[in-house]
Amino acid sequence: MAGIKAFVDSCNGTLDSVPDRYMMPNEAADVSRYAVLPIVDVASESFERDLVDACTKYGMFYKNHGIHTEDVMRCALEFFNSPSEDKMRYYTEEIFTPVRYCTSMMPSKEEKLEWHDHLQMWLKERSICNRDIGSEYARNIFKLGKRMLLVMSEGLGLRSNRLLEAFADMVLLTRANFYPTCPNPRQALGMEGHTDSGGLTFVLQDGVGGLQLKQGEDWYNVRPLEGMLVVNMGDQLQKLSNGRYKSILHRVMVNSKSSRLSVGAFLGPSLDAEISPIPELVSQESPAKYRSRTYRDYMHEVYTEHFSGKNVYVA
Ligand code: SIN
Ligand code: FE2
Repeated sequence: MAGIKAFVDSCNGTLDSVPDRYMMPNEAADVSRYAVLPIVDVASESFERDLVDACTKYGMFYKNHGIHTEDVMRCALEFFNSPSEDKMRYYTEEIFTPVRYCTSMMPSKEEKLEWHDHLQMWLKERSICNRDIGSEYARNIFKLGKRMLLVMSEGLGLRSNRLLEAFADMVLLTRANFYPTCPNPRQALGMEGHTDSGGLTFVLQDGVGGLQLKQGEDWYNVRPLEGMLVVNMGDQLQKLSNGRYKSILHRVMVNSKSSRLSVGAFLGPSLDAEISPIPELVSQESPAKYRSRTYRDYMHEVYTEHFSGKNVYVA
């Protein structure tokens, strides 16, 4: 299982249907509908208010990054374009391995596979090495994430470093995704509908498009915007805020014309941090909605539930 890119490449343009193992029909998708999402500008005077508004009312928004991202995208693409033998040196299904190359989620356990390959890396802020490509980007994400978490704490009526305390020694999971062209995009999915397990997600993407979010019963395209990161909250923030910040349901569509590249940065608590609703947000009127679990155990459970067919999971 070298990955879906290697398979598509090996067909030399003759692949004309989706193999059974990848069949995830989505015929009903209306691809003309776009989500209306706010843009949160760090330099704006109303940054704090806009951010809290975007978190409570939308769950997903754009954020102008002003950071250098070309190297990250270029290196990610170089990795996916490198020979299979080179990529396979990092191949593992183990989710906590520091560097993992894999396809779909955990192919040996999945009946149906998602139409993407990925390279993921776990990083701690202090262990970011200056020589790594992407180190500047990772450092910027830590900085931006911390700044946002201060404001988001206050948005919950808490002191500003309360969320940072709960995150303890936070980790950044970076994950580059490659979605090859697909002969029949209504028969496969780049990623099935899911909520992110972590805290804050920052998605950097090329101009192809494919990310969708669910509002009510409908899916809406998230338009790729130049110079913008797509930001959304993950399950750990929904848990800590006792449901006030929502971890939004999203998925990725593929297309027949163009492959797509995205790099997700998932800023989350320490894997050993016990995550439960922050006590100040729990009361008789608003009892705790979620159980206490370490981020590590939570991720394990998410993967297990995924294999039993459950894609949406915050508990
Ligand atoms: C993800 O949901 O983690 C990937 C998003 C994307 O590829 O746009
Ligand atoms: Fe996601």
